[in-house]
Amino acid sequence: MKDNEVAVISRNSLTIKTLDDKPASFQISQVSQSIGEIEKGDFAHFMLKEIFEQPKTIEDTFRGRISPDHTSLVLGGLIDIFPTILRAKRIIIIGCGTSWHAALVGEYLIETYARIPVEVDYASEFRYRNPVLSPDDLVIAISQSGETSDTLVALRMAKEKGATILGVCNVVGSSIARETDAGVYTHAGIEIGVASTKAFTAQVTVLALFAIKLAHERNEISAELFHELLRELTEIPAKIRTILEKHLIIKETAEKYKDAANALYLGRGALFPVALEGALKLKEISYMHAEGYAAGEMKHGPIALVDDNLPVVVVAPRDHYYEKIVSNIQEVKARKGNIIAVATQGDEVLREMVNDVFEIPDSHPAVTPLLAIVPLQLFSYYIAVLRGCDVDQPRNLAKSVTVE
Ligand code: G6P
Repeated sequence: MKDNEVAVISRNSLTIKTLDDKPASFQISQVSQSIGEIEKGDFAHFMLKEIFEQPKTIEDTFRGRISPDHTSLVLGGLIDIFPTILRAKRIIIIGCGTSWHAALVGEYLIETYARIPVEVDYASEFRYRNPVLSPDDLVIAISQSGETSDTLVALRMAKEKGATILGVCNVVGSSIARETDAGVYTHAGIEIGVASTKAFTAQVTVLALFAIKLAHERNEISAELFHELLRELTEIPAKIRTILEKHLIIKETAEKYKDAANALYLGRGALFPVALEGALKLKEISYMHAEGYAAGEMKHGPIALVDDNLPVVVVAPRDHYYEKIVSNIQEVKARKGNIIAVATQGDEVLREMVNDVFEIPDSHPAVTPLLAIVPLQLFSYYIAVLRGCDVDQPRNLAKSVTVE
């Protein structure tokens, strides 16, 4: 339905009118979801079901886009507009909440591989700060629901100022999907838990596909790296399955920390937004105060919080930030903080140093955010359940924020 329309549905009829009582034109289309998707099945909560669905939803996001031999990548919704995209001198990504965190991961990926300047802004800030925009700018609006008011108004404003607008939405036919010039759907299926999980990993997958496509078209990466990145993405679902298989270790760890008053999450590079998202998940559903920080900023404030009551979750896989993050871990350890590390499978050095480890399989750094977030989603889930919270419908939060 369009804005300002009203539907009347009875057993045998459907009418749609405008608010001033005129008949509205409409088309009926069948949604592709099955009823099973809106049932919990054997899971205690929708959020847990959605966390466990991620191997499938990520596969749904890249299926039909990456060729089976990893040599080509097609983003159907962007084909016509790609010449315009290639002319863009700057990309601005806007969103709210979890979608804003996905945007931050996108910033790292696009700048690293496609070498175009990227800015990320909260839609609620962007819409009011009279940003400088021109037809050389490409604005990407990210939204699971496609109905978030701040994001919708921000994209309208950017359109008025002449920028090209792309959408990354999950809900097909939503307002944001309709009002953008072109876009890429995330295909994560219906997300019911208020705290976003599978929609986040689908958004990051789309942004990774977009960054790889742009890098390839702009000749910023070799054919070998292009194939390698596509292959690494297709290996993610199987790798997430191995993390999910070890969910009981995460549950046991949650038992240890469920009564903490605060938690600090640290990460670097594209894993800094993963730390932000991990902290947001904990806040949203367990009401435990949690902050995400870029690990290098720790010495400028959060280190003052560290004592033997503070759990510090450090996203520390073996990548080119490893040495730096290990020294952050040592700083926390010296102040008796309790460290939970998200570490590469088999990293015995880190295991010796920290209190608890959530292992993730080794992967290319471009796709590690998709793995690193999964144990953090489960950790928040188990803490919230142990604290007796309403996981799927946390207090004061809404799934879709259609008001300012
Ligand atoms: C609400 C939801 C969040 C979501 C945010 C943005 O705050 O509770 O889970 O990340 O809105 O929603 P969107 O649909 O635009 O991604």
